Amino acid sequence: MVTENRPPGRRPSGPVVGYRGGPANGHGMGTMTQETKARGLSPGARIDRYTLERQIGGGGFSIVYLANDPETRTQVIVKEYMPRKLAARGDDGRTVITVGEDEKSVERFAQGKKMFFQEAATLATLKHPNIVNVTNFFRANGTVYMVMEYAQGINLQEYIRRHNGSLSEKLIRIVFTALLDGLKCIHSRGLLHLDIKPGNIYLRSGGSPLLLDFGAVHEMMQSRQDQASQVITPGFSPIEQLTPGGYVGPWSDIYALGATMRACIEGVAPPPSPERSPEDHMKPASVAFRRRYSAALLRVIDWAMEVDPLARPQNVDQLLAALADNATDDPPESGSMLERLANSFSWGRS
Ligand SMILES: Nc1ncnc2c1ncn2[C@@H]1O[C@H](COP(=O)(O)OP(=O)(O)O)[C@@H](O)[C@H]1O
Ligand SMILES: [Mg+2]
Repeated sequence: MVTENRPPGRRPSGPVVGYRGGPANGHGMGTMTQETKARGLSPGARIDRYTLERQIGGGGFSIVYLANDPETRTQVIVKEYMPRKLAARGDDGRTVITVGEDEKSVERFAQGKKMFFQEAATLATLKHPNIVNVTNFFRANGTVYMVMEYAQGINLQEYIRRHNGSLSEKLIRIVFTALLDGLKCIHSRGLLHLDIKPGNIYLRSGGSPLLLDFGAVHEMMQSRQDQASQVITPGFSPIEQLTPGGYVGPWSDIYALGATMRACIEGVAPPPSPERSPEDHMKPASVAFRRRYSAALLRVIDWAMEVDPLARPQNVDQLLAALADNATDDPPESGSMLERLANSFSWGRS
């Protein structure tokens, strides 16, 4: 079980991909650079009624702070809309101003700000034990802010990095059953997350997970043209999110969730989906990890990660049922010990 009990820290580089807007090196992740730090508000700054303690993260689109709420006397997370390529801090050290003279970037900043605000408004209405709890959102400093309940624990990306993958089957089953329940709640509202990956999952002390970061949240019926603007994370985004006009749906979040489960075992991001088509060289989980995990669990992962969207579970209920089914059947291959022994003797092989 997860015993980590510390504030969410910086995200040092490691094997699991989880960047947004960074270089597509396939092995990097969203580290908080000096540059991001310099763009952040200083500790002690007040926004609305909140006092910032320190910056704890920041990707290409936002900066995340740990803060204090004097009203509830609790620590909270404040997320500020601050797109790296479009905005900077003004001379007063507070106001967010657009960079780039052209009207396009001003427009894009405004559009992103609107979407961030909408994301906060949507999240504030989603109440589920496995979805981050947004308690407030407001405009200030020329940008928008979202306030969330602070959870103690560790982000799954960091947890995987520390353990080099190889998370236990028990942990995987508990964490992903809970996440799927949260995802079901999102889908039932006609929404898609579209950026599920280890960096956007948080393990609270005690092991109960939280789905974070709805920056890419989309309405299911949104026109296909809009999908070009979507966030892509190599290894976790399914092929239909990378194909113009691709038909995204619950099956797209299901692919990302399956890829995240695989990363929990393997310790690295799966190959990017375009590399899996037309020829798929990725070893199925049922083959690659059969010695350490039940066939039932590995089948679930392979099903969720089918390249063809139609071959995957079409909704969360199907995946939940598969995960619950045979939860205790076929332990890792009983012959594996013998096999390993045989393989260790060179003369045992022809
Ligand atoms: N409510 C929260 N409680 C604790 N830590 C959080 C919370 N929200 C975010 N974090 C930490 O900040 C990191 C970045 O948050 P996220 O919402 O994914 O923003 P970004 O857009 O920068 O990816 C998370 O991976 C997590 O470690
Ligand atoms: Mg994130």
